[in-house]
Amino acid sequence: MNTRKQEATLERLAARHGKRLFRAMARHESRGLTMDRAQDMAMNLMMKDEDLRYRMLRFVDVYPALRSQASIAEHLEEYLTAGELETGVPPTRLSDLARSIGRHRGITQPAIAMASRLGIKQMGNQFIAGNTPGEVARKVSKMEKRGFLFSLDLLGEFVVSESQADDYQRRYLEMIEDFEDELGPAPKQPAAGPRMNLSIKLSSQTSKFDPMDPEGTSRDVRRRLRPLFRAARKKGAFLNIDMEKREFRDLTLRIILDLLDEEEFRGFPHIGTVHQAYLRDAEEVLQGFLAELSKRNQPMTIRLVKGAYWDSEQIWARQKGWQVPVYTDKRETDACFERCAEILMKNHKVVRTAIASHNVRSIAWALALKKAYDVPDTALEFQMLFGMAGPIKETLRDMGHPVRIYTPCGELIPGMSYLVRRILENTSNESFLRQRFTKGASPMTLLANPKLPPRPEWAKPANMGKGAVK
Ligand code: FAD
Ligand code: 2OP
Repeated sequence: MNTRKQEATLERLAARHGKRLFRAMARHESRGLTMDRAQDMAMNLMMKDEDLRYRMLRFVDVYPALRSQASIAEHLEEYLTAGELETGVPPTRLSDLARSIGRHRGITQPAIAMASRLGIKQMGNQFIAGNTPGEVARKVSKMEKRGFLFSLDLLGEFVVSESQADDYQRRYLEMIEDFEDELGPAPKQPAAGPRMNLSIKLSSQTSKFDPMDPEGTSRDVRRRLRPLFRAARKKGAFLNIDMEKREFRDLTLRIILDLLDEEEFRGFPHIGTVHQAYLRDAEEVLQGFLAELSKRNQPMTIRLVKGAYWDSEQIWARQKGWQVPVYTDKRETDACFERCAEILMKNHKVVRTAIASHNVRSIAWALALKKAYDVPDTALEFQMLFGMAGPIKETLRDMGHPVRIYTPCGELIPGMSYLVRRILENTSNESFLRQRFTKGASPMTLLANPKLPPRPEWAKPANMGKGAVK
């Protein structure tokens, strides 16, 4: 627990870093949230119109199951024209417009189907680097030339058969063994571990990922992970185990420790996992995990995130009548992220930290902690997602910090859940990116300390009269 004085010092440092970041970002910001105007427009429409957002997300969700042009057109029309949604969000002018387009007799079903296919494909192009290894390698090479690091993510999760799990294992293995050869010679990069970095979701490594059977699941998953870790050791690659829904968290951490307890993998340095700050027990679990790593003298990189399954976690818990495991006030998640970042940085001799956020306040806080705890350059990196927050990535890179881009690749259909998570995130009213790039919130508002109660309306600068004390 920090003293008030330490807290005030950290806060001052964070504010200074935040202001510097915003100033430096202005140079890159003219390009906005993304590089693609059409995508920006589609996202902006969904951000502005909650009704349209829900309707489009429902359509994107069902899209992979639609086989014919007629069913695509019928579903789109049905989703756009249905009355008020269960969400209680009333239809608005934009969805009225969409409805009238859907009803227009002159638009044939094939044309509607083609337009929606194109729209979803374009959305995919925004967040997915490519399908074939060659295509992805070209994008990654460009990113490297611009001074970024990468972590590949093979799209797909929650496999439903063992042959599917075998297939994912084989494709992960091919990536570890061959992908680096597809890239040209390595450009000079900040010291941040191996060049080849792969993110893996454990729900792709068995069709029976079952928290009720931790031993069986650990055994099945480790059987598939061993060849991947052997290949990573041989090629000098880094493997990160992503974090998925809350129900899988404890088992995922257990599997990682079980694997590292095996003689041949003990002390393997190029391994990482993820910690989600939106979970109410995040700090406790992080402390417990760090204690396990210390006991084993096991190096690791921990990617700190807020959590990508926020909507589904709370819907799922409410449906079951369970306690919601995630914070429901965004400021609480942000505050927990800052407390977890501090736990990680204090322990920089035990773990490397990867701050995975597009939020300038969260990043500024991490930079303040780096200074306060004298964290060496090699023990901290920043990570962001492909297709998002270009200006923030570029600003951090210009300042000399290692910035790794999480780069999804593969087909659109298995990538649909990933795509829906990105659309939800990018169009959420609470998101930093929306607040900054669509609503134009001021740096001062965005840099506010989430650990303090919000400023009352009357105390906001715009509402203060002349002579008011600031
Ligand atoms: P912000 O806008 O500051 O935060 C948005 C986040 O706040 C939401 O995603 C949600 O977590 C939380 N939130 C939104 N509304 C509320 C509310 N009302 N109450 C409380 N909390 C709320 N996520 C994973 O789960 N597993 C991973 O393995 C993973 N890997 C990632 C890798 C990288 C490189 C990056 C950049 C992100 C990764 N994420 C992962 C996604 C991450 O969890 C966030 O969803 C995303 O980065 C948005 O957070 P932010 O700090 O950028 O933005
Ligand atoms: C997700 O798949 C990035 O791991 C995160 O949404």
